[in-house]
Amino acid sequence: MRILMLCSEYEGLIKTGGLADACRGLTKALVEAGHEVLVMLPRYASLYETPTEAWQSVYLTLGERTLGCAVRHLTLDGVAIALVEHHEFFQRLRPYDDGDQGYGDNPLRFAFFCKAALAWCREQHFCPDIIHGHDWQTALAGVYLQQEQAQDDFFAQSRFVFTIHNGAYQEVVHPDWAAQLELPPEPAGVNLLQHGVESASKLNTVSQGYRDELLTEPSGMGLAALYQSRQPDFSGILNGCDYSLWHPAQDRHLVAHYDWPDLTGKADCKAWLRQHHQLPEKSVPLFVAVSRITGQKGFDYLLPALEQWLPTTESQLLIMGTGERRYTQALFELAARFKGQMSFVMGFDESLAHKIEAGGDYFLMPSLFEPCGLNQIYSLRYGTVPIVRATGGLKDTVVPYPAKGSTGIHFNEPCAEALLGALQQADELYRQPRQLTAMQQRGMAQQFSWQQARQAYEAMYQAALAD
Ligand code: ADP
Ligand code: GLC
Repeated sequence: MRILMLCSEYEGLIKTGGLADACRGLTKALVEAGHEVLVMLPRYASLYETPTEAWQSVYLTLGERTLGCAVRHLTLDGVAIALVEHHEFFQRLRPYDDGDQGYGDNPLRFAFFCKAALAWCREQHFCPDIIHGHDWQTALAGVYLQQEQAQDDFFAQSRFVFTIHNGAYQEVVHPDWAAQLELPPEPAGVNLLQHGVESASKLNTVSQGYRDELLTEPSGMGLAALYQSRQPDFSGILNGCDYSLWHPAQDRHLVAHYDWPDLTGKADCKAWLRQHHQLPEKSVPLFVAVSRITGQKGFDYLLPALEQWLPTTESQLLIMGTGERRYTQALFELAARFKGQMSFVMGFDESLAHKIEAGGDYFLMPSLFEPCGLNQIYSLRYGTVPIVRATGGLKDTVVPYPAKGSTGIHFNEPCAEALLGALQQADELYRQPRQLTAMQQRGMAQQFSWQQARQAYEAMYQAALAD
């Protein structure tokens, strides 16, 4: 099949979260299976240094404006990538926001991106079977494809499929935007994600659990009725893990390597983390987290749970992340109060993320909601037992202690007491090394392959083409 993959992040080029990992993992698996895939993404400022080869210029109209861009090509790991260059829209340091607030012209930027992709296809006579969009940034490609199809036959056989990686980010903007985005008048406001859901031949989200949650409110965040109306076309496909990047025996970021049954290297990784993050060496567990620091990730109850737990335990804690100031400030304060027991690293550091995955005993992922979650999947492979709230993809990927075959610890209610219970359970489990080791072993043996996910996407593409 010929697939045009429209995404706003791609691991190895630009990343703010798991969307980048998922877009790369899926694309690699599709290419390995023999599909012709072209990945298109905006050329953000950080990509101006990335060398490109051939390029074409493309012109298009958007609302009242005629705009141009350059589409520049490169190959990454055998995958064909096209970067849409437009200085006004994309030459910015961060993809979606200035660090605090989303850019005011986001709808226009990403509408332009979608239109540019279709315009380029026409000019290059590149007619995709499938145009696969990811999240609100690419949602309008479905609408513009329908507009193109009403015009002539060029895209007659093409189908738009849409993947929701996070239903909370919908990009809802003032009704005034409709005309500029070439959408029909929408008195209640323009909801970009909604357009993706409505215009897709088939759609999915990234776990079965989250797919079912989206069908009801409040999880659907206002769109549950729409998801229900699309139920026959709406599936849940669990993300895979790219084990060529996330494997403790060959991870290029680690100070020591390991795999079951010899976890000596893991102990070295833990020692390294402690040395570099002001945590003294002693025989207590190291709890870790790498996370976007937002409400989604459970910080509203994680912070009070830590307040209660830290004074009562000798366990250590290391958190890395970037995000909302109200949480990062509280984390800094907590780390200052519990110096030598807790460290907080504010930053986005790919290499440190791998080191933390490897060096921890427990990985904390107390999310309020989680469409799939990749960090708990990485943790399993690294023998770092995940502590998760039983929601969405977390529930689908971690078998709760003490059930047979357990690979991690669950808690249910999104509140400090429930999370505190899970932290205490983990403390206790650390004193039963045989049980803990058995859990680690089971976790490390799990396989969340992109091959399996790829087959489910192929089936979705086939179903879209049969529409
Ligand atoms: P989400 O996409 O909701 O943020 P996921 O668990 O699916 O959650 O994926 C998060 C990805 O982003 C993982 O690859 C994780 O390692 C990475 N990540 C998150 N925060 C940071 C950070 N501060 N530094 C480095 N990598 C990070
Ligand atoms: C989103 C979700 C996360 C998921 C990732 C990749 O960022 O929050 O749960 O793993 O996308 O699909």
